[in-house]
Amino acid sequence: MKLKDLYIEFFLSKGHKQIPSSPVIPENDNTVLFNTAGMQPLTPYLKGVPHPLGLRLVDYQKCVRTNDLDEVGDTTHHTFFEMLGNWSLGDYFKKESITWSFEFLTGVLNIPVEKLAVTVFAGNELVPRDDESAEIWKSLGVREERIAFLGVDDNWWPNMEMFGPCGPDTEIFYFRSTDEVPDKFDPKDERWVEIWNNVFMQYNHDENGFSPLEHQNVDTGMGVERTTAILEGVDDNYLSSIFKDYIALIENKSGKTYEGEYKKSMRIIADHIRAVTIIIGENSGVKPSNTDQGYIVRRLIRRAIRHEKKLGIDIDSSFNSDLVNSIIDDYKRYYPELDANREATLAIIEGEKNKFAKTLDKGLKEFNKVATKVKEKIEGDDAFHLYDTYGFPIELTVELANEQNLIVDTEGFYQKFKAHQELSRKGAENKFKSGLAGTGEIETRYHTATHLLNAALKIVLKDKNIHQMGSNITAERMRFDFNFDRKLTQDEKEELENLVNEWISKDLLVTKEEMNKMDAVESGAEAMFIERYPDVVSVYSIGDVSKEICTGPHVTRTSELHHFKIVKEEASSAGVRRIKAILD
Ligand code: SER
Repeated sequence: MKLKDLYIEFFLSKGHKQIPSSPVIPENDNTVLFNTAGMQPLTPYLKGVPHPLGLRLVDYQKCVRTNDLDEVGDTTHHTFFEMLGNWSLGDYFKKESITWSFEFLTGVLNIPVEKLAVTVFAGNELVPRDDESAEIWKSLGVREERIAFLGVDDNWWPNMEMFGPCGPDTEIFYFRSTDEVPDKFDPKDERWVEIWNNVFMQYNHDENGFSPLEHQNVDTGMGVERTTAILEGVDDNYLSSIFKDYIALIENKSGKTYEGEYKKSMRIIADHIRAVTIIIGENSGVKPSNTDQGYIVRRLIRRAIRHEKKLGIDIDSSFNSDLVNSIIDDYKRYYPELDANREATLAIIEGEKNKFAKTLDKGLKEFNKVATKVKEKIEGDDAFHLYDTYGFPIELTVELANEQNLIVDTEGFYQKFKAHQELSRKGAENKFKSGLAGTGEIETRYHTATHLLNAALKIVLKDKNIHQMGSNITAERMRFDFNFDRKLTQDEKEELENLVNEWISKDLLVTKEEMNKMDAVESGAEAMFIERYPDVVSVYSIGDVSKEICTGPHVTRTSELHHFKIVKEEASSAGVRRIKAILD
């Protein structure tokens, strides 16, 4: 059995309910581009909103981190990764959390206690030194020499700056080496690697400082890739069962072996193509573009292709599709949407590849010409030329330059870029940071508006089979994708606006009901991805015009939406239309 299955099974046996992975593209949170941690989708519940499945939850969660893409290529950093987590929402606390972690590691995964060490919180002005956790660890058989007390930099999650639920944690380390295990645990010794983090979430951090949460929660996180490698006794995640087939395929198609200078390129290809397969494959509607998630996807594909080229892989061959298929086959059991979207995912990745393949050779030649000419720095103008004419994302130019010990004037590049693209670099950068802010009032109003639009489309376009295919909400607007195969007429758009505004002015009541998933579907509630919902779901009804399974949050009366206006209607992908609308 795989680690994921063992983990879920273990915590189910401890009274937890399994919740499905949330999408990697947050549906109602525009403060982040991607879901970056297992607990992120649970933020409202950690803050006190009751969860329909109760107080003990367990899951595996898709995560994407793009803040350290440059690090990808080493043995441990990944763009996409999965996190296992178990949560107590005001139920159990330190004793059970630590005891079960210990039981799972030593009893289920059979890790000898001698290979384990832990850190606990040394205390600060909010929370005293965590002797309680240390005592629990000791009572389980972890020796005192293997327990280190550390401060906020190590044992406070996420840190003292970020907003959202937070608290002290205890982290579990494994001795990943064939050397003899040292008697005393030294957290600075890199042979000790962190495998699990148990956070005792007791505070919420916002503009006004730290305030105690409604209840004391436990949030734990274990990285699937790292722990799998450890269990399999390899010190390179790419040699574990998770990546081994992908590396073999790359070896086979390139005629090179996974060693020496080829390793980095092979890792980047495997990592990046896996990440884009998951991102594109989850109904998000994300496609390669020059903004937001689309830009990340573009960068990942282009960087992978450049490394394929470097390894001598024929990029006109079916290599990328073979790799994507193999990834989908591995993950479809856990994320069925990948299989459903297989054709679209293949087409999008192939399309981007073909686009880039046309200019890659010429661009590389151009780059080399510039690189031989300059001594130390590639100017912003040259970097922009590579971007504009050959489609080289700036990060790719930087990577190429660094390989030749050159730097790039990225400031200069962005100045040109901004002038040309009217893209606010600052805005984009802010969004790349992983924040944990919740859903604001404006987003909540838009969220309710999507339900009304969803209902109105069925009536105005006289088609009950129209459904939401995706949605994205910012404080400025809502975006709503639905299945329909032609452009809407002006009359239809006006009818949609009128109907939604009519419902708004009727001041309909928005109500929430918890029910069994199948009962909800039978009662006529609309469900976007039925396989993704837990067995018990929240159903939101708006008067008698809309009924949808949804996690919320929503306004309580439709009058709070004021006025609905469509600003754009366009094609999103084959058979899918996209409406952008505002509330004013
Ligand atoms: N939130 C913690 C982490 O991401 C534990 O899940 O490490």
